[in-house]
Amino acid sequence: MEASATTFFSCSLRSSATDRGRSLCFPQLKSSSKHLFSPSGRVSFSRPRNVLAVSADHHEPDGAKPMFTTIPGSDLPYHVKTSSKITVVGVGNVGMACAQTCVTEGLVDELALVDIQADKLRGEMLDLQHAAAFLPRVNIMADSDYAVSEGSDICIVTAGARQREGESRLSLLGRNLSLFKSIIPQLVRYSPDTILLIVSNPVDILTYLSWKISGFPPNRVIGTGTNLDSSRLRFLIADKFDVNAHNVHGYMVGEHGDSSVPLWSTLTIANMPVLSICDKDGVKYSRESLQELHKMVVGGAYEVIKLKGYTSWAIGYSTASLVKSLLRDQRRIHPVSVLAKGFYGIDKDVYLSLPSQLGRAGVLGVASVQMIEEERRKLHESSETIWDIQNQLQI
Ligand SMILES: NC(=O)c1ccc[n+]([C@@H]2O[C@H](COP(=O)([O-])OP(=O)(O)OC[C@H]3O[C@@H](n4cnc5c(N)ncnc54)[C@H](O)[C@@H]3O)[C@@H](O)[C@H]2O)c1
Repeated sequence: MEASATTFFSCSLRSSATDRGRSLCFPQLKSSSKHLFSPSGRVSFSRPRNVLAVSADHHEPDGAKPMFTTIPGSDLPYHVKTSSKITVVGVGNVGMACAQTCVTEGLVDELALVDIQADKLRGEMLDLQHAAAFLPRVNIMADSDYAVSEGSDICIVTAGARQREGESRLSLLGRNLSLFKSIIPQLVRYSPDTILLIVSNPVDILTYLSWKISGFPPNRVIGTGTNLDSSRLRFLIADKFDVNAHNVHGYMVGEHGDSSVPLWSTLTIANMPVLSICDKDGVKYSRESLQELHKMVVGGAYEVIKLKGYTSWAIGYSTASLVKSLLRDQRRIHPVSVLAKGFYGIDKDVYLSLPSQLGRAGVLGVASVQMIEEERRKLHESSETIWDIQNQLQI
């Protein structure tokens, strides 16, 4: 039967691992999708795509008008691949902040959510879907089976335990290590060309682990790193000097954590080096007070966790900003966790944050920013800290 002469309803049907995600044509409208609970306890939520289209020469027997009519002579494909798909693994506070920000900013056409908590997963999916009238159009799906992530351009991993009050990021490692050994191979299986964007802590070591497990080239395995720390620093400087944070330029590098390194020597406000502003008479801040700001940056996450139990909004925006640079090939420079060997004299296989150019292929390059001797030394100390822990774990 000719498609153009047929009333057809295109539904997004995900009935098995093989046809999952494809739109199929049916001669009649399928009833609304079901939540599928397999004996294994796997939960699947699918949403029908209500594409109701008929050809111009089709007439309903009762004279009812179709909702849409195809233009005669059209050669519509049954399924047009939408341009961008991301998967978020872990629908906790951080995962949903990342998902929500990416959706709100219109960065994504398809969003897949994965978690092991079936009820929470379905609840988060529905809650976000119910905002459809206020959001850019996006197909949101959720499943505890990683097949739902198939064909993702970017996979964001936020799954795992989060810090308890006062707990360092590194002490989280033991708890999150084994999770990653099960998560990463599944993502690779369904999206062999994806970019892995790791958020879970300790982010540098888990990004290194993801690189090792995935077998991906290092440009396609990135950790959010100090992108957030740098924003915290820029916010604090902007606040103190009463300027817009967009006009504060500078990076924190190294570990996303206690040994991070602020690059004071190249930190500028509208091209004015902050250190030279501070050296002038009548200045508001001394070098010491800038170092105090660094402590505030490092302690920032701990303070938020103490006050509200977790951090979410800032890491959500930070991650969405990275997604934007990657998906839209923005070629912006972000301080993110990358394979650092060979840069700034680092000679070990460690992931840590360096100012890096991001585009559609992932990390396009690492910027050669100026560093004074003290900053280089601290960066090396930071890399040694990470290396020591990696060695203890023998990964
Ligand atoms: N890199 C950063 O800048 C940054 C900032 C904030 C938080 N984080 C980290 O993000 C992570 C998540 O934090 P959160 O506050 O969202 O925690 P959360 O406890 O709210 O959420 C974690 C989610 O992971 C899920 N999960 C656990 N095991 C899983 C598995 N095997 N597969 C799929 N999902 C699984 C849980 O069910 C839960 O929904 C933590 O490691 C935290 O330290 C990183």
